[in-house]
Amino acid sequence: MEIPELRIGNLVADLPIVQGGMGVRVSRAPLAAAVANEGGIGTISTLGLADLDLRGEEFYTKSKEALTNEIRYAKSLTKGHIAVNIMGVIANANDVIRTSVEEGLKIIVYGAGLPMKLPEIVPEKDVCLLPIVSSPRAATLILRYWMNKYKRFPAGFILEGPLAGGHLGFSHEELSRIEDFKLSKLLQQVLEAIRPFEAKIGQKIPVITAGGVYTGKDIADNLLAGASGVQMGTRFVCTDECSVSDAFKQAYLDAKKEDIGIIHSPVGLPGRAIRNKFILKVEEDGKQKVRCNYQCLTVCKLEEAHYCIANVLLNSYAGDVDNGLIFCGQNAYRVDKIVSVKELIGELKTEMQHSLQSALVEAIPVAEPV
Ligand SMILES: Cc1cc2nc3c(=O)[nH]c(=O)nc-3n(C[C@H](O)[C@H](O)[C@H](O)COP(=O)(O)O)c2cc1C
Repeated sequence: MEIPELRIGNLVADLPIVQGGMGVRVSRAPLAAAVANEGGIGTISTLGLADLDLRGEEFYTKSKEALTNEIRYAKSLTKGHIAVNIMGVIANANDVIRTSVEEGLKIIVYGAGLPMKLPEIVPEKDVCLLPIVSSPRAATLILRYWMNKYKRFPAGFILEGPLAGGHLGFSHEELSRIEDFKLSKLLQQVLEAIRPFEAKIGQKIPVITAGGVYTGKDIADNLLAGASGVQMGTRFVCTDECSVSDAFKQAYLDAKKEDIGIIHSPVGLPGRAIRNKFILKVEEDGKQKVRCNYQCLTVCKLEEAHYCIANVLLNSYAGDVDNGLIFCGQNAYRVDKIVSVKELIGELKTEMQHSLQSALVEAIPVAEPV
């Protein structure tokens, strides 16, 4: 059985694999381009690309400049599909979105908040808008609002379940009963919720599943269950092309299952990370003195924040993991080597093909003996 393509809007990717956006500076041009060169969709995270010591307005101007350079660099490395990941809670979200569109990118992935007004910011119909959702309710709200107000619908949804890395779209209470929010369950709920909208527009709205997808078999299982593709983050961190420090990658290689847990992020959302020295110290010491030059997150409550999330993510990126936050998916403890993106995707393709083939053989009815 052939590996299916991933169609979103007018775009067709050879592989149904999206490399998830990972901030701060985790998914940059080299990683995104390498994934795009293998036929998937590579995503540049727009978070924290400028020097974090800059102040106020200058930070925003330099952020725009840095993103422009990152997109141009990615485009110099690939002719494949490049997306950008935007966190709705960043203060300069609209600016970053417009910069990406002006630089010619055709895929905008929007998470950490409901992108109700996104079609106003991106009226260009040839740009695929992909909201990240974690519930059928969120998908329905977006569809209803966009179709009524803008006569527009998302080119697809990224459905992120509770095993994903980074900030999560679930409350701490929901995460305490994670079985109720299994990705496979959420997928069926979302597929059912969007069906009436698909019937109305006479078009399929692809759902791309994320969170805990680790092997090619996992990808096949998601496709067979109705997903149009998968988004993966964790597995792409330990690749040669990922820009993080060796110490960051080593923390993944060293992590045991019990080291991975949920943290309270200053963004106001739970996040999944390695419970390293830094996290243990924060839990022991409580609130630190937080210096802020530019309030990069609209939701960051400085007086309550235990640390500046931009700074501590940057520390890990740069190699100071003992003073840094390391986001990771629940499966990070399974990573045991650093490979090239080509090797990783090759392995995923072989496993995926094998699983799809087995499913096809199992589905063929056995002839009754006459
Ligand atoms: C280190 C790291 C940073 C991440 N940062 C972001 C981010 O900035 N924005 C976002 O929408 N998702 C972020 N994610 C989530 C990924 O894009 C992806 O959806 C998720 O990791 C998929 O789950 P997996 O890691 O089990 O494959 C991050 C994930 C990781 C591991």
